[in-house]
Amino acid sequence: MDVTTNQISVEKTKNTKINDVDFDNLSFGSIYMDHMLVCDYKNGAWEAPKVVPYQPISLDPSAKIFHYGQSIFEGMKAYKDDSDTIWMFRPLDNHKRLNLSAKRLAIPEIPENYFMEGLKALLKTDSDWIPQSAGSSLYIRPFIFATGLGFHASPADEYKFVICGAPSGSYFSGEVKVLIEEKYSRSANGGVGFAKAGGNYAGQFYPTKLAQDKGYQQVIWTDDNTHEYIEEAGAMNVFVRINDTLLTCPTSDRILDGITRKSILKIAEDQGIKTEVRKIKVQELVDAAKDGSLKEMFGAGTAAVISPIAGFGFRDTDYMLPTVEDSYATLLKERITSIQYNKAEDKFGWRFKV
Ligand code: PLP
Ligand code: COI
Repeated sequence: MDVTTNQISVEKTKNTKINDVDFDNLSFGSIYMDHMLVCDYKNGAWEAPKVVPYQPISLDPSAKIFHYGQSIFEGMKAYKDDSDTIWMFRPLDNHKRLNLSAKRLAIPEIPENYFMEGLKALLKTDSDWIPQSAGSSLYIRPFIFATGLGFHASPADEYKFVICGAPSGSYFSGEVKVLIEEKYSRSANGGVGFAKAGGNYAGQFYPTKLAQDKGYQQVIWTDDNTHEYIEEAGAMNVFVRINDTLLTCPTSDRILDGITRKSILKIAEDQGIKTEVRKIKVQELVDAAKDGSLKEMFGAGTAAVISPIAGFGFRDTDYMLPTVEDSYATLLKERITSIQYNKAEDKFGWRFKV
């Protein structure tokens, strides 16, 4: 049964935390707005979503999330323009991807209407939590996990869908250097790499910690078969500029089909930048860094927006990138954020008014 935003029940908090928030100095994803959306799956159907005060969730120790990791999530942002209108960027694509992840993890799909109307009801309730300061936005985290019980290794019969949000600034606090990984893999053919499954991130933490201990912020994963081709970074897709061509590798069942990635490709083409989507050999990057044709690298993602990569490490050697005058990363970041913050024409129809 469909719902409209106004039909979603809203229980307001009596203790707002908003006055404790310094909206001019926001870190990423560490303070949470007053309300959340919850929606339970029971007896084979999703129940009506409702907005409730942000609060802990109590679970039975035998809930399958704890044992078999049935957990998926999305990452999106809401932006407030100068006249207090709230905008989102391609939210229907996030809904579609959440359901792709759900299908792969044997989790029931969430109807588009529940996702979208629930999101709108939540954002209307907590609209004061959406920052207006430059570079800040409300990072939104929809997720679904298994609440059904049992040690039997099979899909749960009950689930919870939740959306909460965190007013946020930049994901990275400083320069980003990446390590190209050859030993560990993030995902494999036929696996769950294309899904936003919690376990994909858990599996990255140990190798990423090893890289961080050596001074890198993220790992660039290579294909699990040969480790000869770059795939994506821990929390973002990767772009490379060789001479004047902007390159990114094709997505696959090992790589997240990033919404920022596909938007950047369109914007770049629209700006007259030559783009190529093709496999990129690590050796090609090393050679291009050595002969000076590697001009830029950057990561692209909802949290990361466009994060320039200062250099990469490979087999104990660091390759630092030059500073370029006509940076594609700078141009593309300006273009995409102007659309997101309603400061430029939205010729691709990506902006969504809440
Ligand atoms: N790759 C990974 C592993 C991610 O976690 C993300 C973030 O969502 C991305 C890529 C970028 O995807 P999107 O642009 O849809 O946020
Ligand atoms: C996002 O960009 O939304 C992500 O999900 C990345 C996350 C690991 C912070």
